[in-house]
Amino acid sequence: MKIHFKFLAIVAVMAGLLASFSLQAEDAEANKALIERGKYIAIAADCGACHRQAVENGVPFAGGYAIQSPMGRIIASNITPSQQFGMGNYSEAQFADAVRKGVTQDGRNLYPAMPYTAYHGITDDDIHALYVYFMQGVKAADIAPTAVTRLGFPFNIRQVMWGWNLLYRSEKPFEQQTNLSEQLNRGRYLVDVLGHCSTCHTPRNMLMAEKTSLNLSGSPLGGWYAPNITPDSSGIAGWSQSDLVTYLKTGHLAGKAQAAGPMAEAVENSFRFMTDEDLNAMAAWIKQVPAVATPVATKSAQPRLLTDINNVIIGQGDPSSLADYSQTNGAMLYESACASCHGHQGQGTSDNFYPSLINNSAVSGPGPQNLVMTIVEGIHRKGSDSDVSMPAFAQQMNNGQIASLSNYVRSQFANIDDRLSAEDVQTLRHGGEPPFIVRYLYWLIGASIVIVLLILFGLMRLRKR
Ligand code: HEC
Ligand code: HEC
Ligand code: HEC
Repeated sequence: MKIHFKFLAIVAVMAGLLASFSLQAEDAEANKALIERGKYIAIAADCGACHRQAVENGVPFAGGYAIQSPMGRIIASNITPSQQFGMGNYSEAQFADAVRKGVTQDGRNLYPAMPYTAYHGITDDDIHALYVYFMQGVKAADIAPTAVTRLGFPFNIRQVMWGWNLLYRSEKPFEQQTNLSEQLNRGRYLVDVLGHCSTCHTPRNMLMAEKTSLNLSGSPLGGWYAPNITPDSSGIAGWSQSDLVTYLKTGHLAGKAQAAGPMAEAVENSFRFMTDEDLNAMAAWIKQVPAVATPVATKSAQPRLLTDINNVIIGQGDPSSLADYSQTNGAMLYESACASCHGHQGQGTSDNFYPSLINNSAVSGPGPQNLVMTIVEGIHRKGSDSDVSMPAFAQQMNNGQIASLSNYVRSQFANIDDRLSAEDVQTLRHGGEPPFIVRYLYWLIGASIVIVLLILFGLMRLRKR
């Protein structure tokens, strides 16, 4: 009898242990899946694009990279679970407030360079997955910030953002719309919330907030221009859903467009890793947002013949022909610097690896920004199908040469007469025209002081009476 009991007890303990092991294993499985889900959300939201180090191939999410804003350089934080320098001490609720409301653990207001205006719609479920991913799936990097954000007065006063948030930060949670299909609801969430397309593609008002009525209709972005992507003829009405998917996934669409600059980074870090289902949902949503008509470049009645390029000695494939940058003639510059890849007639190669510059959205866009910036910075982009690279010409050419080259390319291949000057190129290379609030800041401050003084003066006179 005694032995029987012992045996039963041992069996019971074993069974209990087994059950708890399998439960633990199940928990571990579920947790792993949650971390994976959080990782995918972080990719769709492209957290890594900004929260990287200032060097190539740096430690993921260690921060230090400077976002160039018209107000100055804003340094991205370390968002690894480092206790000392990262967000190791953030609770999930504090994390949610930072991501959705732009308020840190210690109550500081973040600048909207952190796209909380879009992220405010992230669902509780997704916030949870993101939090678990950052806390458990990301390695703590005990790396101190290499730079600090120092903006000029009055932008250095973070409390200013409090008033701005009152005006422009939506408090409404993201809700599924019952009149939309499941795919469109998903697309809307990915485009408006996680993918934060509007932070680049929507024009901004005098206080730098997005003009929601002109959603996705195009906006300057540093020296670049994020084009109109609404389904208007001045936007991308001519693109099919699968065109959009191809562009987001690979960064190029034969005969239409290539992604350079900030869009190349978004493709490389984010869109190329997204599922086909999600990319299709995004494209389906973009295809049906309200169309907004925006100005297009006016075509000249007659192509302006800048020079007779037939007289230029051509050395295709010969690197030494790339060496002479002393000239300022746009056609000659094109021949020596661009033709070896894009062809003498701008036709590109038949496999489109070197794209045609005719019917190319950067060449025929409303302004020359993306052409100029591509010449200055080149392209280095990993897409889901290939790595592409075009050399940067910032070192070889001065602003005057870039201006005349850009004028030539736009005139020759898109029939657009820009007359860009060296100063225009200089402005683009330094982040473009400053917005109203930066240009007239001191006037605005001066005017407010005068108004306050006038009111005080008036009050004093009233009291004297
Ligand atoms: C477009 C660039 C950009 C993207 C994308 C971005 N961030 Fe940020 N984030 C910033 C910048 C810049 C700051 C610092 C802003 C400041 O100093 O006011 C910041 C600050 C933060 C902070 C506050 C940390 C602290 O204590 O200083 C958290 C948390 C954070 N981001 C999390 C995220 C997460 C999670 C994602 C992805 C879902 C994300 N960010 C995507 C630019 C970005
Ligand atoms: C970080 C800023 C940024 C973000 C975020 C961004 N874009 Fe872009 N986008 C650009 C810029 C700049 C260009 C122009 C690139 C070029 O011509 O080389 C561009 C180009 C495009 C084009 C090509 C348009 C044309 O006529 O050539 C499409 C389509 C597009 N973006 C869609 C999207 C979608 C959809 C999202 C969100 C899922 C998105 N973009 C997010 C900056 C951005
Ligand atoms: C070594 C080859 C090479 C040379 C030289 C070259 N390019 Fe490119 N160019 C490329 C590649 C590769 C791409 C991107 C293709 C892609 O995205 O699939 C590109 C893309 C472009 C684009 C589209 C960018 C956008 O934003 O949409 C323009 C415009 C352009 N090049 C203009 C020029 C001009 C002007 C020159 C001469 C200063 C030049 N290229 C020299 C290889 C080259």
